[in-house]
Amino acid sequence: MASNDPLLQPYKLKHLTIKNRIMTTSHEPAYPEDGMPKDRYRAYHEERAKAGVGMTMTAGSAAVSRDSPPVFNNVLAYKDEVVPWMKKVTDACHEHGCAVMIQLTHLGRRTGWNKGDWLPAVSPSHHREASHRAFPKQMEDWDILRIIEDYADAAERMKAAGLDGIELEAYGHLMDQFWSPRTNTLDGEYGGSLENRMRFSLNVLEAIRKRVGDKFIVGIRYTADEADKDGISAADGIEISKRLQRSGMVDFLNVIRGHIDTDPGLTDVIPVQGMKSAPHLDFAGEVKKTTGMPTFHAARIPDVATARYAVAEGLLDMVGMTRAHMADPHIVRKIMAGREDDIRPCVGATYCLDRIYQGGDALCIHNAATGRELTMPHDIPAADEKRKVVIVGAGPAGLEAARVSSERGHDVVVFEAAPEPGGQIRLSAQSQRRAEMILIIDWRMAQCTARGVEFRFNTWAEAADIEAENPDVVIIATGGLPHTEVLENGNELVASSWDIIAGDVKPGQDVLVYDDAGDHAGLQAAEIIANTGAKVEIMTPDRSFAPDVMAMNLVPYMRSIQEKDVTFTVTYRLKDVERDGNRLRAKIGTDYSDLIKEKSYDQIVINHGTIPMDEIYFDLKPMSLNLGELDHKAFVDGHPQRITTNADGKFQLFRIGDAVAARNTHAAIYDALRLAKDL
Ligand SMILES: Cc1cc2nc3c(=O)[nH]c(=O)nc-3n(C[C@H](O)[C@H](O)[C@H](O)COP(=O)(O)O)c2cc1C
Ligand code: SF4
Repeated sequence: MASNDPLLQPYKLKHLTIKNRIMTTSHEPAYPEDGMPKDRYRAYHEERAKAGVGMTMTAGSAAVSRDSPPVFNNVLAYKDEVVPWMKKVTDACHEHGCAVMIQLTHLGRRTGWNKGDWLPAVSPSHHREASHRAFPKQMEDWDILRIIEDYADAAERMKAAGLDGIELEAYGHLMDQFWSPRTNTLDGEYGGSLENRMRFSLNVLEAIRKRVGDKFIVGIRYTADEADKDGISAADGIEISKRLQRSGMVDFLNVIRGHIDTDPGLTDVIPVQGMKSAPHLDFAGEVKKTTGMPTFHAARIPDVATARYAVAEGLLDMVGMTRAHMADPHIVRKIMAGREDDIRPCVGATYCLDRIYQGGDALCIHNAATGRELTMPHDIPAADEKRKVVIVGAGPAGLEAARVSSERGHDVVVFEAAPEPGGQIRLSAQSQRRAEMILIIDWRMAQCTARGVEFRFNTWAEAADIEAENPDVVIIATGGLPHTEVLENGNELVASSWDIIAGDVKPGQDVLVYDDAGDHAGLQAAEIIANTGAKVEIMTPDRSFAPDVMAMNLVPYMRSIQEKDVTFTVTYRLKDVERDGNRLRAKIGTDYSDLIKEKSYDQIVINHGTIPMDEIYFDLKPMSLNLGELDHKAFVDGHPQRITTNADGKFQLFRIGDAVAARNTHAAIYDALRLAKDL
């Protein structure tokens, strides 16, 4: 029976019928190899296509010119060799009825000059972009003509690769650097009036149309309101939208509101957890109403209900659920099967996007199979033989191990000393802004409960309790305890960041937060303390503070704490703490010299990661078949663990997550998935 779900209705775009209204918007996961979308790339898109997504806009900022070197390992659309690789991606997705397009761009000033071919970045002005820091060359006439032809060449390559269409990127990149009076100081026919500032993009469209014809689909993803003073206003944006429509060369509009030249600007365009959901949806709807053009949009529409509303209300024709698909590539399949409750939620952690700006690949904080489709399953296959798996610890690692083991069909028992599951995640979620983190736990609890996993909360498991279960496999996922023993003297005088976050220690009035872990816990504790009106100094021995929080995640912290009495001190190391009446005297050194200074605080809080809670592991080790040993090769290659170093052992024993060494949520979940998928 045909569904009447608005999301599942087909959409006709020119000659192309897209089978439903859900798309993934262009997002470069930084998976290319040598600038080409090879096997890993194809497997990533194919997984979504298989599960029913209507359209995938591949790449993200695929570069049309040599002087647009990758900012985060982008596809190099200026090379002819891209054609066969893109054809493989396209064919694989088409096989499952998924429409495929690609985003093409020239980054203009939004890149660096010391990459790729060491060509200077170019832009219609010399103005530097805060995020990427290149001082661009102001473009000359021959740069303009050259790049117009580059766009047309790249479009022709994509047509040759069999794609259904292309999208031009015009927010923060070269095209809208021409549009915006903030970034275009050219004289003559490409600068000045709006007509002149739009000439470059219209020339590009003309050149593309000459090469690919009228039938090939060409759209544009553009800022219709830079939401920044002196930039493109909403009224300008509507005028730009109308001019694009009147040109007759554009088949769809993919609406963006905001500017991305700073980290805060980017975060308002792509909101992270704790920020408003779907903040630009109504605006995109206005553009659609005014222009009558096919309209796409994405910006934190993480749940099916909001996506459905966007289409049902006629605000959008195609709704982008991009990060939502990184968290769960099977969204459409689950909607079709009436299993929306099973969708693994995107919690807005934006670990995915923050990683690519740090030179990494895009990974989801709680789906370790995303981007690893060649080695890690999204659907866990059943095991040949049922086994008894006992897990100690119900944090993210323990729960992922329990989820995957139960999907394999095993009998699973989980011991947890606390009354509730979640471990460190439950603490992170104490802050209102990070409350969504608890969904990482809630989703796993629901999945485990549905598969009959037995939980024993409030139970401090001893080795004998585990033995009594007669397990085949024991997984220790007990996590860690805050590690504050970093001082030469005075370790007993300090509190840990977790003490503050958990509410076990009351914040002082004049506080040093010494953070040499550089993760969320340090800033989260500092924010809680600053919220009480206290004076807070955040100190790190590193060159910059909180490196593991990363760019977009830093924004909400800064917006919160910069308004308060908070200062930052970098490159100083806390050495020693002494009591001084009812205050504490800190001896502070530096790794750069023998300099020592003293300062007084009424409280000192240390954030230095965790030390493993591994007692039970070492108690069980002699009783195990493998003496706790992990075969790294099998673990990395995705094969079962078969070490037997103790023939008298009774069970296999493994340790995962922070119970091994302090890392992060993704590492804990990846440990669990790659171990448990082969049990
Ligand atoms: C890893 C990653 C890379 C991205 N790269 C691009 C890009 O190159 N071009 C682009 O237009 N948008 C890019 N985006 C933005 C997405 O297309 C989308 O607008 C954004 O994620 C908001 O939608 P969502 O809330 O559904 O994820 C990227 C997003 C992610 C997560
Ligand atoms: S890392 Fe966070 S924001 Fe990114 S896909 Fe995963 S849950 Fe969503």
